[in-house]
Amino acid sequence: MRSIAVMNQKGGVGKTTTSVNLAAGLARAGRSVCLIDLDPQGHSSLHLGVEAFGQTPTIYDVFAGRKTLAEVRQLAQDRLWVAPADLDLAATELELVDAADREIVLRKALEQMCQQAPVDYVVFDCPPSLGVLTVNALTAAKEVFIPLQPHFFALQGLSKLFETTALVKRRLNRELRVTGIVLCLYETGTRLAADITDDLMRFLDQSDPLAPWKQARIFNSRVRRNIKLAEAPSFGQSIFEYAPKSTGAVDYEALIQEVIASEVAPSAVAA
Ligand SMILES: Nc1ncnc2c1ncn2[C@@H]1O[C@H](COP(=O)(O)OP(=O)(O)O)[C@@H](O)[C@H]1O
Ligand SMILES: [Mg+2]
Repeated sequence: MRSIAVMNQKGGVGKTTTSVNLAAGLARAGRSVCLIDLDPQGHSSLHLGVEAFGQTPTIYDVFAGRKTLAEVRQLAQDRLWVAPADLDLAATELELVDAADREIVLRKALEQMCQQAPVDYVVFDCPPSLGVLTVNALTAAKEVFIPLQPHFFALQGLSKLFETTALVKRRLNRELRVTGIVLCLYETGTRLAADITDDLMRFLDQSDPLAPWKQARIFNSRVRRNIKLAEAPSFGQSIFEYAPKSTGAVDYEALIQEVIASEVAPSAVAA
């Protein structure tokens, strides 16, 4: 099983759009996927037409110890499960502050789900903060994907984000690796985007070989700015259903093929 936290403490960089379309595309490609919405805004749940209202169990109930992941996840499409979030989840940051094992609640819940009802991929859509929900995702996941919007401030804040992955790796999750950087909302033909990619490559090259981001790749597939990607959520559909011929669908499909290509484990290559 691969488990991927889609993380960036900045809002509006493409975390949710990437989480949803990655999860939906992997499911279309025959993988079973569980998308876990960790943002109290619940955007990735809504994006797939999963609305948490009334008594609907949500990821909040998992953090509160009332439900298992297998109990809260819903089948949104063939092979695609969603563990929805709603505003209640905002309380989790506060409620967990004094809990002894507050950083490993999600990991334990995921281990239990893997025994009861395993899937091929788990994708965590993180909230725009480095708080306890994001730390739970980093503790439960093996991989981190970082969506970046290539503009002048894109790299600002990245060192804080990387430090957080290093801290979680040291204290809680030795297996954690930043494996991919996804350039989202990409403007073709601008010098700036190319400059930022160069800066990022230089930074990765010069990093400590033991840093969890040292092996990170900048995906070749860039996600161009495409209005269909912004429209799809209001129809409760992934880009593959909403506008399968759009550049948004083409770009995410290419990204998914790269992700699938990296399924081959290093040990399998060596064998
Ligand atoms: N490639 C894109 N082209 C056009 N709009 C996009 C693209 N990616 C994301 N958006 C839109 O930009 C906004 C922020 O994206 P979102 O994925 O919600 O970011 P985050 O989860 O990081 O806050 C949303 O309205 C989304 O629909
Ligand atoms: Mg989001």
